[in-house]
Amino acid sequence: MKGIILAGGKGTRLYPNTLVVSKQLLPVYDKPLIYYPLSTLLLADIKDILIISTPYDTPNFQRLLGDGSKLGVSIQYAVQDTPRGLADAFILGKDFIGNDDVCLILGDNIFYGRHFGQTLREARLKVEDGSANIFAYCVKHPNEFGVVEFDDNFKAVSIEEKPKKPKSNYAVPGLYFYNNSVVDVAANVKPSARGEIEITSINNYYLEKEMLKVSVLGRGMAWLDTGSPKGMFKAGNYVKNIQEMQGFYIACIEEIAWRRGFIDDNQLEKLGNEMISTEYGKYIISLLEDKNI
Ligand code: G1P
Repeated sequence: MKGIILAGGKGTRLYPNTLVVSKQLLPVYDKPLIYYPLSTLLLADIKDILIISTPYDTPNFQRLLGDGSKLGVSIQYAVQDTPRGLADAFILGKDFIGNDDVCLILGDNIFYGRHFGQTLREARLKVEDGSANIFAYCVKHPNEFGVVEFDDNFKAVSIEEKPKKPKSNYAVPGLYFYNNSVVDVAANVKPSARGEIEITSINNYYLEKEMLKVSVLGRGMAWLDTGSPKGMFKAGNYVKNIQEMQGFYIACIEEIAWRRGFIDDNQLEKLGNEMISTEYGKYIISLLEDKNI
């Protein structure tokens, strides 16, 4: 399975912070925002990754993450000249995806919770029969998101993009698993009223074909909002609090690559030593000292 991180857009809701820096490069406490969606892909055991961003920002992502070899994975880059909608990821990523299934994650989506890696690895398998697998997460203000409505048996019956009158409180987070067929589906999506080729149109296609699986992410999961300065600040605080309380780091990509067996002890040590003057670097080194955690 291939993985795509969509990290384009102007980040207008975060101006002036994002006037010259991509939103996905801003810090969420101690690491750039893109580390969080990247960690989600790594937890899903996805080692072939494409980052899509603007012509201006792509070189910065390249400087930050290189070709991925330090993490034992492959990271490629594609430039999106103008934002045309989320479904564009599968048009720009067509050659990269090839004949594989694909997971798309939006570059500003942060997930954290128990057994999340297992949930992701299960979602991979669920699309092998030609389906799509998306997620649902209960929120207070669903009108800001794609919203999924369920029947009494928790079967999805409708999905609407930012509805004025949401039919449920279940938002669709920016994390989607698709069978390879999504490449053809995306190529035929017509722009919506706001002129974008919407991911929701793709999801509706699979829903109509009865090929859409929706996994509910329950109370034990955090899906953190980074859509505003307050959201970024709260997300940073959340990460800081968990890390300080538990001693486990959230979205330490080096740790995940090591735990999933993409890199060995020596490679991890090298990565830690490059940042040894920070808590982050010291944490990486500490993993090698106490392997029982
Ligand atoms: C996008 C999708 C929406 C989804 C949201 C999750 O909206 O269009 O369906 O719920 O991401 O982050 P955006 O926030 O890009 O406007």
